[in-house]
Order: sequence, then C-alpha cells, then structure tokens
Amino acid sequence: MEKIIYILILIMLENSNFYKDVNTIYSPTSYDFIVNKNNKLTSDYVPYDLEVIDTKYSLEGKYLRKDAKIAFENMASDAKALGFNIICVSAYRSYDYQEKLYNNYVKDKGFYYADMASARAGHSEHQTGLAIDVANSSLDYDNFEDTKEFIWMKNNAYKYGFILRYPKAKFHITGFKYEPWHYRYVGEKIAKDIFDKNITLEEYKKNI
Ligand code: DAL
Ligand code: ZN
Repeated sequence: MEKIIYILILIMLENSNFYKDVNTIYSPTSYDFIVNKNNKLTSDYVPYDLEVIDTKYSLEGKYLRKDAKIAFENMASDAKALGFNIICVSAYRSYDYQEKLYNNYVKDKGFYYADMASARAGHSEHQTGLAIDVANSSLDYDNFEDTKEFIWMKNNAYKYGFILRYPKAKFHITGFKYEPWHYRYVGEKIAKDIFDKNITLEEYKKNI
C-alpha cells in the first residue's frame, strides 16, 4: 500500500508545477507571505529581528522573529501549566544550512523522497524565522503525532497565531508530506481564519 502511495506521489510530482515558475520574495513585510516550492527567499535573506527562544521551551540556540518567539513562549508556557511539554527542536535555518539538510536527504533517501520531506534552499519556511518544529519532552518529533501534546497543539496553536502548515492529505497543495510537528506563525487573526476554515496557507492566500 505504502509503495502504491509513493508511486502516485512520484507521478504527481512529475506532473505538478512545483519548482516551476518560481517567484522570488525580496523583503517580506507581513506575517502571511508564502514561502513554498513556487515562492523562494534570496540566499542572503536573514530576518532582521531574530531572537533566541527561552531554553525552558527549546533546545539551545534556536531563533525566531521577535513576535513569533513571544507567541511561541506564551503558548509553550500556557501548555506547560496544563501539563503539556512543547519543545522547539528546530526554528530559523539559514539558506546554507537548509542546502546542506536537503542535500543530505537526497544522499540518504533519494531525490523524490527528499522533495516530499525537505525544502530546497530558499524554499524553506524555516528561513523566514516564522516556522518551528516541535516535539514533547522525548524530543522525538517524528512521533509527535502520537502524543497528547500534538492534540493540544492541533486544537490550540491558532490561538497564539500558529497554523499546522503541512496537514494530512494536502500534499497536492502544499507540496510537502504531512508534518504534525511543523507550525508557522501568521498572527492570531489569520491563524483563526485558517483553523476555522480548515484550509492551508496557499488556499487562504488565493481567496483573500
Ligand atoms: N520540512 C520542511 C518542508 C522544510 O524543509 O522546510
Ligand atoms: Zn519544519
């Protein structure tokens, strides 16, 4: 079954518009801009307001843009008070770091799998400083879906301005496989709208 799904995805990738007609974003001004397979940041783009996340809720040395960092710390603190441990395992990643990550994926898992799971340099939301990967205290983000922390994030992240960016079965729209651990800061108003309508950021942007 898994093999059939994989083959279907390969066919979809071959016939898709992903990584074709790419638009370049030079200086993002809002919090709802799209970085994906068709919209990329320049290799020298580094957000001007990165701040380090409190190690109470993060591995050491993880950075987000100021508003996203404050929102994340508030969320993780509220969650902790309720008995849920939300820990940041990855946040801002530079263009060069993303390039290495993607190339390692290609080496380890092959080109097609790499393109489903990892963004090419310039195309990763992690370069925006507005995206975060989380896990519970186990730090095992791969199995985050099976934790009570995931259920809490799924139902509450939008209240702090975060959306689940790569939902299940939205591969044809987002270009990436399901990532229960990856959240994107878009601000509270837009996050609520996206949550209420159960749509992706791509669909939201198309309809405003
Ligand atoms: N895993 C996400 C799609 C990234 O590489 O940015
Ligand atoms: Zn991520």
